[in-house]
Amino acid sequence: MSAQNNQYALILGASGGLGAALLAQFLADPSISRVVAVSSQSQPEQPAMPEGASSKLVWITCSYHEVSMAQVVDQLTPYQGQFSRVCICHGLLHSDTLWPEKRLEDINADALHEVFQSNTVVPTLWLKLLFKVLKGSTPCVVATLSARVGSITDNRMGGWHAYRASKAALNMLLKNMAIEYARRAKNVKLMAFHPGTTDTGLSKPFQASVPSGKLFTPTFVASQLSTIMSDAQQDGVLCYVDWNGQVIDW
Ligand SMILES: NC(=O)c1ccc[n+]([C@@H]2O[C@H](COP(=O)([O-])OP(=O)(O)OC[C@H]3O[C@@H](n4cnc5c(N)ncnc54)[C@H](OP(=O)(O)O)[C@@H]3O)[C@@H](O)[C@H]2O)c1
Repeated sequence: MSAQNNQYALILGASGGLGAALLAQFLADPSISRVVAVSSQSQPEQPAMPEGASSKLVWITCSYHEVSMAQVVDQLTPYQGQFSRVCICHGLLHSDTLWPEKRLEDINADALHEVFQSNTVVPTLWLKLLFKVLKGSTPCVVATLSARVGSITDNRMGGWHAYRASKAALNMLLKNMAIEYARRAKNVKLMAFHPGTTDTGLSKPFQASVPSGKLFTPTFVASQLSTIMSDAQQDGVLCYVDWNGQVIDW
């Protein structure tokens, strides 16, 4: 097998709408020989995958506490220096117990903590813990799912305080970590990615106001991201781009 056909991919948060679509994208890609999926959920009994792809898949469950995450990373030691694609797909906007805030009075400490934990803390811990696994000679692109609403420049409407702030904080942490990765692991390129409004559980309650043609399928976005990652250069600079590869202002 040539080096080009022997790439490894890692999907963190593989059971979400976008995580599952990226998993399917990489399983169907003949240039990728191994796909490791990490999720709080167990492996679906009949995951959507092309025939023969199941032998490429390794599924690991994780509770997203730091100890559990470190144990996952220990299991990845045999793949040290071999991953060329990493997607960090965690994100929380609403749940049975929290809803995006419309006004100051809606701000709640527990909800702020919960949203920051999922959107900011968990991706940051992955990038801390994965350093020793990603460092090497294989060019590696790490796409972390951010959102355009994390752009301070773009914020004209306010609201969604916890979600917006958690994504802005994520972007700042990614910037910091990109600077350090550029010094200590030059083979790794970090990317903050905005998928556009995509038809997943996260966007479901808010889809009625999306203009026609602007609600993407997860499959479309996964394909776009895969192309954007393939075209990325190992320049040590964090980029903040949307589904179309367009740069977003911070
Ligand atoms: N859909 C959109 O329109 C849209 C727009 C802009 C940005 N995004 C971003 O895209 C990313 C993926 O979202 P999605 O649309 O695929 O949403 P989704 O279907 O609701 O998936 C949620 C994701 O978050 C993970 N997750 C859930 N609860 C978590 C927790 N408590 N701690 C850590 N991880 C947790 C899930 O991982 P497991 O279940 O596998 O453990 C899964 O990867 C998010 O970062 C989101 O902010 C989405």
